[in-house]
Amino acid sequence: MSDAPSLSDLIDLQIRANGPISLATYMGLALTHPRAGYYTGTDPLGAKGDFITAPEISQMFGEFIGFYIVNLWQQLGEPKSFTLLELGPGRGTLMQDALRVAAKAEGFIDALHLQLFETNPALKAQQAERLGQFNPYWATEIDAVAEDPLFVVANEFFDALPIRQFVKGTNGWHERLIGLRDGKRAFGLSPTPIPEAALPPALHDSPEGAVYEVSLASADAMQRLGKRISELGGGLLAIDYGYAETQAGETLQAIRRHAFADPLETPGEIDLSAHVDFGALATVATGLGLKPALTTQRDFLARLGIVERASALAKANPAQVDTIAAALRRLTDVSEMGTLFKVFAATSGELEPIGFA
Ligand SMILES: C[S@@+](CC[C@H](N)C(=O)[O-])C[C@H]1O[C@@H](n2cnc3c(N)ncnc32)[C@H](O)[C@@H]1O
Repeated sequence: MSDAPSLSDLIDLQIRANGPISLATYMGLALTHPRAGYYTGTDPLGAKGDFITAPEISQMFGEFIGFYIVNLWQQLGEPKSFTLLELGPGRGTLMQDALRVAAKAEGFIDALHLQLFETNPALKAQQAERLGQFNPYWATEIDAVAEDPLFVVANEFFDALPIRQFVKGTNGWHERLIGLRDGKRAFGLSPTPIPEAALPPALHDSPEGAVYEVSLASADAMQRLGKRISELGGGLLAIDYGYAETQAGETLQAIRRHAFADPLETPGEIDLSAHVDFGALATVATGLGLKPALTTQRDFLARLGIVERASALAKANPAQVDTIAAALRRLTDVSEMGTLFKVFAATSGELEPIGFA
């Protein structure tokens, strides 16, 4: 047994020493603390883990991402050298499926520099096993890329980045903080109000008690990658649960073994996430001269031909008909991932991303 203090104890010590911490600081420690963070510990993915993601549901998902990237590469005139960067690649399943399809485009694999951005050592090992043949490179800085066209893919990455929350009071907005009450972690509000004018216009005139969430980490990632894309040419594709326009609403959630949990209990052992504000990402992208586009996962996959692909797969694998139908439903039905999940693209100059209206 290690004598190192638990993550809970470390967080409480910090609060006792320096006062309440922001939700972003708490999430950062709970998710990516180098020794005890949720994403630095074991593999949280899959049916036996805390959640299951689209590429783990069906190979079709990654295949369409591969098809999408090849199309952008072709629109750019098939550059002889380019970077494909995946943020938070999980088990490497999406990229494995994508590159199996992309390899059919002549010259694509020869021109490919595969780069992965990942914090979890256990998942890095799985990525190495699945993608080793493509000689991936794990950068420690999100935007440390070569001077080549850049394509970025991120499935369920942005929802894992920390958010701050602000609650509307009688005379302004107050940041929600985490402190100790009777020795237990509890939410409270900063006594110092932030004037409403400092918040995006969409929040003005919200009713008292309204909650505004902002992810500075997501905006920073978009800014750094978007700057490289606008300099080098290419695009970013992010798929996640989220909303189209900046708005009030509380979306922080904690999941443990497929069930909701208390976000303040057992940090490091639960998945904490929040819906992605795609409006905020679009604002950053537009400011860099990129073209943003947004659609639902259902429409994106339908436009790329998932219904036809599912029936072709079912024909070729009669024993799998039910599994394939279930996967199609899970990915596209409005009661499942179909409309909750959005697909966001930010592309350079003249590129026309496929799958959007
Ligand atoms: C919800 S999982 C999604 C995995 C994969 N994209 C999929 O769809 O199956 C989030 C991924 O992002 C990684 N991750 C989370 N926070 C990160 C961070 N701050 N820096 C780098 N990787 C991170 C996790 O380890 C994991 O690989």
